[in-house]
Amino acid sequence: MSSATIINNSRLGGRFFRLSLRWKCGGVLPGQFVMLRVSNSLDPFLRRPFGIYDFSGDVLDILYKVVGKGTGMLSTLAPGTDVDILGPLGNGFPPAGKGKNPIMVAGGIGIAPFYLFAGEVKEGKPSLFYGAKGRDEVALLKDFKSRGLKLNIRVSTEDGSIGRKGLVTDILKERLGEDSVVYACGPAGMLKEVSNIARKRGVKCYVSLERAMACGIGVCLGCAVKTRKHPPASAYRMVCSDGPVFNGEEIDWGCF
Ligand SMILES: Cc1cc2nc3c(=O)[nH]c(=O)nc-3n(C[C@H](O)[C@H](O)[C@H](O)COP(=O)(O)OP(=O)(O)OC[C@H]3O[C@@H](n4cnc5c(N)ncnc54)[C@H](O)[C@@H]3O)c2cc1C
Ligand code: FES
Repeated sequence: MSSATIINNSRLGGRFFRLSLRWKCGGVLPGQFVMLRVSNSLDPFLRRPFGIYDFSGDVLDILYKVVGKGTGMLSTLAPGTDVDILGPLGNGFPPAGKGKNPIMVAGGIGIAPFYLFAGEVKEGKPSLFYGAKGRDEVALLKDFKSRGLKLNIRVSTEDGSIGRKGLVTDILKERLGEDSVVYACGPAGMLKEVSNIARKRGVKCYVSLERAMACGIGVCLGCAVKTRKHPPASAYRMVCSDGPVFNGEEIDWGCF
């Protein structure tokens, strides 16, 4: 556990915010996350988990969506405020490997861990397929576009306001190749579908899972997910310490 100081905390549009923290840490891996305490009081008592959006020097960036009390309180914190931070936590995304083309599939705020990852992909022709509800969420892609990455970006929106109308999985079905490795982050329903599509084509797929968390370090067992491992008693894995990134084929999707 350590402390970080807020440098910036600004609204990007709608319920989306970007938080920049000055934080001394040895380094992070794309796909890892941190736990932040959003208040000095006992309410909310538990830290909240957030994927690492960017990290450079001693500045850590988080992209977040206000969904409840904790994220609502976080959005009110001003520059100069110190926050309790635990991390970096979890395993991160494994590399795609030689001759493979990474495909990142993101839904909504699930775009967050891919900014750092996209910048570190050294092999193949990387793609980012982004599924959003509408225009507000597509604003989150601005940084990716201005970064000058060699990234094939395709967008779908449910309301058709930008990009293709429909689901991001429609784009994946069309563009998935034998040499692809899929990385997905977003709502559980999307992850399940992405994992199914990849499995049917014999393509490796990594999913970044979300669970409500308490300790963040594998102690409280609060973030357990069921895998297909046997016997059933040994099937549970902790999203915080065994993940958050798992091979999609390992997960028993019935537990979501
Ligand atoms: C490993 C990991 C990485 C994450 N990365 C990010 C990120 O980069 N950006 C971001 O905005 N959020 C991220 N989240 C989700 C974030 O932690 C939750 O949105 C946050 O904890 C909600 O806190 P709250 O007090 O505002 O909401 P609460 O009051 O706790 O809950 C409000 C509503 O949101 C729902 N909710 C709470 N937690 C989650 C969750 N994990 N997933 C889906 N719904 C949830 C609740 O069911 C409830 O309906 C991540 C979660 C995990 C586990
Ligand atoms: S949050 Fe406690 S074990 Fe994962």
